Amino acid sequence: MTASEQGAPEWGLARQDAFRSALRQMFHVALQRLSDTGVVAIAPEELAGLTEQVRVTADPKFGDYSGTMAMALAKRAGRKPRDMAAEIISRLDVGELFDPPGEPVGPGFINLRVSDAALARGVERAFQDDRLGVVPVAEPARIVVDFSSPNVAKPMHVGHIRSTVIGDALARILAFRGHEVITDNHLGDWGTQFGMILWGWKHLRDEQAFATDPTAELGRLYRLVRKLVDAKLEELAADPAAAALVAEHPEVAAEVHAETVRLHAGDAENRRLWQQFMPACRGEIDRIYDRLHVSFDHTLGESFYQPFLAGVVEDLQARGLARESRGAMGVFLDGDDKPPFLVRKADGAFLYATTDLATIKWRLDHWQPDRILYVVDHRQGQHFDQLFKTARLWGLGHVALVHVAFGTVLGDDGRPFKTRAGDTVGLEALLDEGVERAGQRAREMAAGEPAASPDTIALQHIAETVGIGAVKYADLCQNRTTDYVFSFDKMLQLTGNTAAYMQYAVARVEGIFSKAGIDREALRRQPVEVRLDDPRERALGLELMRFGEVLEDVEADYRPNVLTGWLYELAGRYSTFYDALPVIKAEGPARNSRLALCDLTGRVLRKGLDLLGIGTVEKM
Ligand code: ARG
Repeated sequence: MTASEQGAPEWGLARQDAFRSALRQMFHVALQRLSDTGVVAIAPEELAGLTEQVRVTADPKFGDYSGTMAMALAKRAGRKPRDMAAEIISRLDVGELFDPPGEPVGPGFINLRVSDAALARGVERAFQDDRLGVVPVAEPARIVVDFSSPNVAKPMHVGHIRSTVIGDALARILAFRGHEVITDNHLGDWGTQFGMILWGWKHLRDEQAFATDPTAELGRLYRLVRKLVDAKLEELAADPAAAALVAEHPEVAAEVHAETVRLHAGDAENRRLWQQFMPACRGEIDRIYDRLHVSFDHTLGESFYQPFLAGVVEDLQARGLARESRGAMGVFLDGDDKPPFLVRKADGAFLYATTDLATIKWRLDHWQPDRILYVVDHRQGQHFDQLFKTARLWGLGHVALVHVAFGTVLGDDGRPFKTRAGDTVGLEALLDEGVERAGQRAREMAAGEPAASPDTIALQHIAETVGIGAVKYADLCQNRTTDYVFSFDKMLQLTGNTAAYMQYAVARVEGIFSKAGIDREALRRQPVEVRLDDPRERALGLELMRFGEVLEDVEADYRPNVLTGWLYELAGRYSTFYDALPVIKAEGPARNSRLALCDLTGRVLRKGLDLLGIGTVEKM
């Protein structure tokens, strides 16, 4: 027995590990034995990569999970893949969790089937478990999630939904897995947009309007001044009033810039105005966060880090990392002939980059995170590349910095989503329309079923939950790195991979209990023997046991769509089961067993949606 053997675990039915992770540990031991006995040399650091080659079997007729590592190892040892697979199998101890492995299949696949007893016991445990059988991670990390982070004082647009919704879902999933998550909304509250508003306020304000609706007035000023600064010919041609203002203020762009500079330099009047504007700006976005049910542990915007910026540049300079280039200060990451990562402009102004460096330092000093995730548009990829490189040179390399990038939301025409007038679509208008359309749908459905018709307040609640859920889910079910086309018609459909379908599935599963007058809590308190004799019961049970694996895969690549795709699959397995087999009318022990499957499915679907930040309703 080698040293590694002594720790080899016993795989009895009482083990809590999810099947895939148990199997990966079993392969870990087997591969170590393979190496120890001289069949093929495997370095310890290779083991994790090799055991990850244990996945769900593509075709269930070959088993539940397959290991595919024999092929690569055979090549290395100059042996036949099937022989190598047989060598691995002979060293694989699957305890009571899997049926004893058979012969390798095809070019060396090692297929495993979860034993009936282990599966039934696993489902029973998950059914009785508040965590639904999801085992917390063995090594919790402290993870900062930097998300949403809009630039305030401009209206939030559809692009911000992605960061907000993806970031919120990831934060929820990581926390449920057992990590310590710190969410931080890195508001853009110090940028050039304030120069526009300050200039607009000083020259074009409507105090009456500000008193009644400060956000609307600030929004008007922002859009108007933006137009004057941009001075696009076709825009001005369509807007004579704006054209007249441009004629009146030919230096507007420079003046706006000067307002920003004054604010940053500590000018008393501009600071006072900034402080006066901020509550309105915050109120505006907070209203949207309330509607989206998104909250943050911290909202430390760019302004918070201003006192540290000069120190950051000095320190980079003192360490010989930053040096002057044409009056500006930058870090030359890719050699002297490539543009540097600028941390101070020639006019003395600090940049987005400087703030982000100060932010990393502050987070490390105060929170000591293991990881920081930045959920930000892919167009900022280069910024984050350079930021992370600079942070490492600066000696902050012990934290994992990850840019969780996402693509663009497109309109029907395949171009970035715009209103007919050509503006980017405001987030709030979008949510309103989603809710409006969901409400319409709910009223139509209620009209067809007058007896069960919900009252107005209930309808409004359904509309809000379904409408907002639809917008969120449509975003989350996309592979985050690709662009996607925004379509209300698609996202509100009751069939297919949509929030409405998933919410409907939950209502349907859970409706069984209310209709039959069964107390689910009481059911969970009594001992239930789960039986999975029918292949449809077994398939559903196995799927339910995969919840933890799926969340692990979401984390591996920070992709919430792995969860949406799986929930959809689970709902399908449930339908197949429920359409074919009696539940309430089932006889003998099958009844409670099937009720347990229904109960667990409902809770897993509900929890899955909850982890995506999507609510559910009792009735639809
Ligand atoms: N405010 C920025 C924007 O709207 C996003 C900030 C992302 N977070 C960060 N630490 N850079 O583009």
